[in-house]
Amino acid sequence: MRVYLSEDYKSMSRRAANIISAQVITKPDCVLGLATGGTPVGTYQQLVEWYKKGDLSFAETKSVNLDEYLGLSPRHEQSYRYFMQSNLFDHIDIKPENTHVLNGLAKSPVAECAAYNQLIRDLGGIDLQLLGMGHNGHIAFNEPGDNFGLETHVVNLTESTIEANKRFFERREDVPRQALSMGIKNIMNARRILIVVSGEEKADIVYRAFRGPVTPDVPASVLQLHPDVTLVGDRAALSKLVEAGEPVCG
Ligand code: PGA
Repeated sequence: MRVYLSEDYKSMSRRAANIISAQVITKPDCVLGLATGGTPVGTYQQLVEWYKKGDLSFAETKSVNLDEYLGLSPRHEQSYRYFMQSNLFDHIDIKPENTHVLNGLAKSPVAECAAYNQLIRDLGGIDLQLLGMGHNGHIAFNEPGDNFGLETHVVNLTESTIEANKRFFERREDVPRQALSMGIKNIMNARRILIVVSGEEKADIVYRAFRGPVTPDVPASVLQLHPDVTLVGDRAALSKLVEAGEPVCG
């Protein structure tokens, strides 16, 4: 694993965007695995800026997103499809038909998950998967205790994830209780992984994920077994890793 330490959120975002843009420049028709949440927003802003300057084109790029709330329409402001449109897709030249987000309104969620696994295979797999990490160590909606062998599946959100995500909704009761999510197996099959972390409140879980035992109790810990992981974080989020002597690049 390579660890890049940036002083603050903005430089962390620029670093992550650099890694994604290098992927897109070296393989324009690559498959990007994309993530939602607060942490990648700055990364997407940076990519949009470079696209607008003419430094980057996504005309041949394909994307698959990690997850979607069950029961939310793509037009719901808190759906992950809406998030991706408003934070990235609407501002770059990626072709709409090349962007893939699970359908939260699918009549058969189980069939939707199976079709998504097939889609990822048909696309030739994921070249670079961007990830955030939850306070409980979840990646996508793979919550503590979930089986590492799962592909895309229906998930019951934990209370801690509902608590963390309620900031985006008017009321806690509005947070969906279920989601569709790629599984750890899909994520581990990506050729490269880029994980972004920011803020002091992530310092403990970052330490547990990358210095603790590999265990389903901390889903992100499985990334220790992946051969090509880059962790990009700000100083606050990486503070415990650094204290423990993890070698970092500046
Ligand atoms: P955050 O979410 O980036 O908003 O902290 C990360 C996650 O829950 O995966």
